[in-house]
Amino acid sequence: MTKASSGIFHFAVVFMLTLEIRIQLSVESELVVDRSKKNLTHVPKDLTLKTTILDASQNYISELQASDILSLSKLRILILSHNRIQYLDISVFKFNQELEYLDLSHNKLYKISCYPTVNLKHLDLSFNEFDVLPICKEFGNMSQLDFLGLSATQLQKSSWLPIAHLNISKVLLVLGELYGQKEDPESLQDLNTKSLHIVFPTQKKFHFVLDVAASTAVSLELSNIKYVPDDNEYSYFMNVLLRLQKNPRLLDLTLNNIETTWNSFFKILQVVWHTTIEHFSISNVELTGELDHQDFNYSDTSVKTLSIHQVFSYVYHFQQGYVYKILSNMKIQNFTITGTRMMHMFCPLQISPLVYLNLSNNLLTDEVFKNCTSLTALKTLILQMNQFKKLVNIVNMTKDMKSLQQLDISQNSLRYENEGNCFWTKSLLILNMSSNILTDSVFRCIPPSVTVLDLHHNRIVSIPQDVTSLEALEELNVAFNYLTDLPGCGTFSSLSVLIIDYNLVSRELREFIKNIGQISSEVVEDWPESYKCAYPDSYKGTQLQNFHMSQLSCNTTLLIVTIGVIVLFLAVIVTFLCIYMDLPWYLRMVCQWTQARHRARNMSLKELQKNLQFHAFISYSGHDSVWVKNELLPNLEKEDIRICLHERNFVPGKSIVENIINFIEESYKTIFVLSPNFVQSEWCHYELYFAHHKLFQDASDNLILILLEPIPRYSIPGNYHKLKSLMAQRTYLEWPKEKNKHGLFWANLRATINIKLIEQSNQENTCLNNS
Ligand SMILES: *[C@@H]1O[C@H](CO)[C@@H](O)[C@H](O)[C@H]1NC(C)=O
Ligand SMILES: *[C@@H]1O[C@H](CO)[C@@H](O)[C@H](O)[C@H]1NC(C)=O
Ligand SMILES: *[C@@H]1O[C@H](CO)[C@@H](O)[C@H](O)[C@H]1NC(C)=O
Ligand SMILES: *[C@@H]1O[C@H](CO)[C@@H](O)[C@H](O)[C@H]1NC(C)=O
Ligand SMILES: *[C@@H]1O[C@H](CO)[C@@H](O)[C@H](O)[C@H]1NC(C)=O
Ligand SMILES: *[C@@H]1O[C@H](CO)[C@@H](O)[C@H](O)[C@H]1NC(C)=O
Ligand SMILES: *[C@@H]1O[C@H](CO)[C@@H](O)[C@H](O)[C@H]1NC(C)=O
Ligand SMILES: *[C@@H]1O[C@H](CO)[C@@H](O)[C@H](O)[C@H]1NC(C)=O
Ligand SMILES: *[C@@H]1O[C@H](CO)[C@@H](O)[C@H](O)[C@H]1NC(C)=O
Repeated sequence: MTKASSGIFHFAVVFMLTLEIRIQLSVESELVVDRSKKNLTHVPKDLTLKTTILDASQNYISELQASDILSLSKLRILILSHNRIQYLDISVFKFNQELEYLDLSHNKLYKISCYPTVNLKHLDLSFNEFDVLPICKEFGNMSQLDFLGLSATQLQKSSWLPIAHLNISKVLLVLGELYGQKEDPESLQDLNTKSLHIVFPTQKKFHFVLDVAASTAVSLELSNIKYVPDDNEYSYFMNVLLRLQKNPRLLDLTLNNIETTWNSFFKILQVVWHTTIEHFSISNVELTGELDHQDFNYSDTSVKTLSIHQVFSYVYHFQQGYVYKILSNMKIQNFTITGTRMMHMFCPLQISPLVYLNLSNNLLTDEVFKNCTSLTALKTLILQMNQFKKLVNIVNMTKDMKSLQQLDISQNSLRYENEGNCFWTKSLLILNMSSNILTDSVFRCIPPSVTVLDLHHNRIVSIPQDVTSLEALEELNVAFNYLTDLPGCGTFSSLSVLIIDYNLVSRELREFIKNIGQISSEVVEDWPESYKCAYPDSYKGTQLQNFHMSQLSCNTTLLIVTIGVIVLFLAVIVTFLCIYMDLPWYLRMVCQWTQARHRARNMSLKELQKNLQFHAFISYSGHDSVWVKNELLPNLEKEDIRICLHERNFVPGKSIVENIINFIEESYKTIFVLSPNFVQSEWCHYELYFAHHKLFQDASDNLILILLEPIPRYSIPGNYHKLKSLMAQRTYLEWPKEKNKHGLFWANLRATINIKLIEQSNQENTCLNNS
């Protein structure tokens, strides 16, 4: 071993040891116990003392006692949300000195008793049934508190004092359904937090006067706003919003779950426009009413980012033009409108400062931004999940976007059929065209400057050789296509990432294996250990270097031609045999004959003949008796097969059923002559039933079915289950109409009856004597 390599060896050993110790440490430091959704009524008692994380959420726990968690001295995270706890005594955590995360949200808490705990960072008491804010003076010692979730039906300014000196990042304040009877507008004044999320009662209209901007929060989120004003109504919500204009601290505003009118929606937007808010986001909006013509005052705004997500509108009869006009001329940098059913968007009238525009998941069509020259600052355009159809229209749409670097047009229905004229904007670097219906020809419409190209989930069969080379391309994703070849290196000289899984590549793989054998393994990282087959299953785990493909399986054309010729040849032969030689019939017969011979060989003769008076009992309908007497009987009896017919062998004095049972019991085989007539005869069905019954008793197959005439399935009565299932198994001999096939039929039948005539005993034919 050289010096260098032994150095590397030592380094590797040390590295692996460190890694192992690290893993052990991290395993030791966390012990997660998940008992959520287990229908528990108490905190489980069987927990290991080393538990650090306990999740017992979504149970029916109604009490939390010191004894429940006393011994869990290592407990750091306790999640008891969605239970039925009514009363909390914080002293139960006296011995859980490590506890820093306590989630008791969505319980039925109405009362707490306090105890100084200092280590809590996350305390969630939201969505409970507290009347007043559950803040006790001991909270003031939680100097590390970062998140505090609360719920109440009344707010008092003084409640916040114990925690006013803390630096809390986020307060979640859930107002109970009874909130609003006695409101103090100033009640949030002494709340000190960076971010405040207020959840209003879900059932009520917004009739509140709370000054939501009174706290120190720079980021404000308001949920559940039912604001559908009548004409002369005092606009509570609008007045709450107007007060935001007086708070210069506020930078972020998020509104969630809003029910309002189109007019109010734009009034809200207008009010926010003249505040200090920089990032405004509205989601889950339900809009009613119509939009009257409104002018929007765009001047003096701080807004940089506007996001509108999930808008449901019940009316679309009005002039949507107003909507597009107002939205398209906003002088902002970042604009997102997703999950609306918006079908169009106007081109801004003046040069727009928009840098980022995300219009994903709408119903936009190829008509959007036609001839649009005002989006010159735009760097990122996201049009994912819309109704775009033609790639050339996209090229035309973006050709004047001089700064556009990233374009996402994935998940549309885009096609490109060599329509030519793909003069993309020169700035484009990242192009995502995944999940469309693009074919090979798309490679004639790629911007030459592109560095990242995503074409996965399309219909690409091969990458044409003669396309303009994409010299800047570094990352190409062509997974989930129908590629049979790897792309040639000549076209993509800078490529460093190629994603090609879920294709049909095989020929190039063969070349790859061959070539790699010739160059040294240093060039290809981890060859051959890391190159294993994942598909097909039979080769899973095989190293690629040991996977050999024949010339045939690699040369697709040769393979297809070979398969084609063989299939055609077989088809001609089979058709000929079927039509002129009745191949299926012969095949069935030969098969049955072979089976019968096989069974006969495996059975001892003694067994066959003990107690058997007849070789065969024949069951048939009276209507088929002509065939039985003229064809079947002579042919079998000429071979000395002893046949029992109910007409001639009936024992008088016994009942019909008794006779049938006896005959079947005493016969080695029972032959059924099946025809539509047979199905009509009730007796035949009895006989079939008994014979079949015997079949299972003796575990020998004593049934022989001869299909004299085809029986349409529908003509078999529903309760003839046995016959139906026997017919379905197709284990019957078919009486051929053609004379030349009769010989084989009889041979077959004889083989099935399975008697070696030479071995026959000299017993009297009692069956015949009985008559
Ligand atoms: C909890 O109870 C419900 C209703 O009785 C039952 O359907 C469910 O399977 C139970 N879950 C467990 C984990 O026992
Ligand atoms: C809690 O803080 C108060 C002062 O704010 C202090 O006097 C008291 O000792 C602290 N208690 C604990 C247990 O740290
Ligand atoms: C809160 O932050 C301020 C300023 O960063 C700091 O002076 C004060 O000590 C912090 N208070 C606590 C309780 O950590
Ligand atoms: C637009 O809003 C600004 C700032 O609020 C105001 O000064 C200006 O008068 C308004 N313009 C119109 C036409 O209302
Ligand atoms: C706009 O959005 C992009 C991407 O989300 C982000 O990187 C950028 O900081 C945002 N710009 C502004 C002004 O908010
Ligand atoms: C576009 O907006 C949607 C909704 O906010 C978001 O999920 C998606 O990540 C955004 N797309 C990009 C590429 O930023
Ligand atoms: C696009 O602009 C060209 C001239 O720049 C004009 O001839 C054409 O009519 C415009 N098309 C649309 C749809 O506005
Ligand atoms: C694209 O735009 C050019 C010129 O602006 C025009 O000649 C061409 O017809 C347009 N193509 C399509 C498909 O609209
Ligand atoms: C392209 O968009 C798809 C979603 O449509 C996303 O999964 C994929 O990561 C994107 N590709 C790139 C290179 O961003």
